[in-house]
Amino acid sequence: MSDQKHIIAPSILASDFARLGDEVRNVLDAGADWVHFDVMDNHYVPNLTIGPMVCKALRDFGIKEFIDVHLMIDPVDELAQSFIEAGADLVSFHPEASKHIHRSIHAIKDKGCKAGLVFNPATSLSPLESVLDDIDLVLIMSVNPGFGGQSFINSSLDKITHVRKMIDESGKDIRLEVDGGINKETIGLASKAGADTFVAGSAIFNTENYEQTISELRSKIV
Ligand code: DX5
Ligand code: ZN
Repeated sequence: MSDQKHIIAPSILASDFARLGDEVRNVLDAGADWVHFDVMDNHYVPNLTIGPMVCKALRDFGIKEFIDVHLMIDPVDELAQSFIEAGADLVSFHPEASKHIHRSIHAIKDKGCKAGLVFNPATSLSPLESVLDDIDLVLIMSVNPGFGGQSFINSSLDKITHVRKMIDESGKDIRLEVDGGINKETIGLASKAGADTFVAGSAIFNTENYEQTISELRSKIV
């Protein structure tokens, strides 16, 4: 889906929301590839963030780069459509938040948007067996969703290795993304396990020099 071997996707959850447009522009100009857009509903996760209007505002502000929307919401379908209308390039959701996973995926893809499935540290990968051919991205959470700044959970590495094998055996063009606690120490472990797309929030936005941080992160990818 993207020719680029490795992708760095800063999570705007850790950015300064009062200056969101500038933050997104700056982090992209500093070498980031995608914008990771975390959507929380105070129902699926115990936190509340931003909705489709903010995604559209970024498009209106002039952001043309890839917007990777991570829905941590239940239910999924209606807001997924609103995000597509607001300019999302990819919408991923947690399978346990949808009653009909295959239908939710195709409702996204029918609109010309890419679709991803997200797995929490303790969520079974079993839905993947039926829908791997239908999706563009698998996202493995390496923290429990809901907050930025948490510590990387090491057992997610086995999950990444397992999904890497599934993707390689399928021969499909599916990205393998990791999200949560990614920093200069953990990005190497995740890439070694097989991840090719890396979300990082606090490790980027809590530093002064985004360009330097992103190039340091990139240099640790194996
Ligand atoms: C967690 C979100 C993550 C989070 C990552 O629920 O999905 O994208 O913001 O933040 P860091 O990189 O700080 O763990
Ligand atoms: Zn996320």
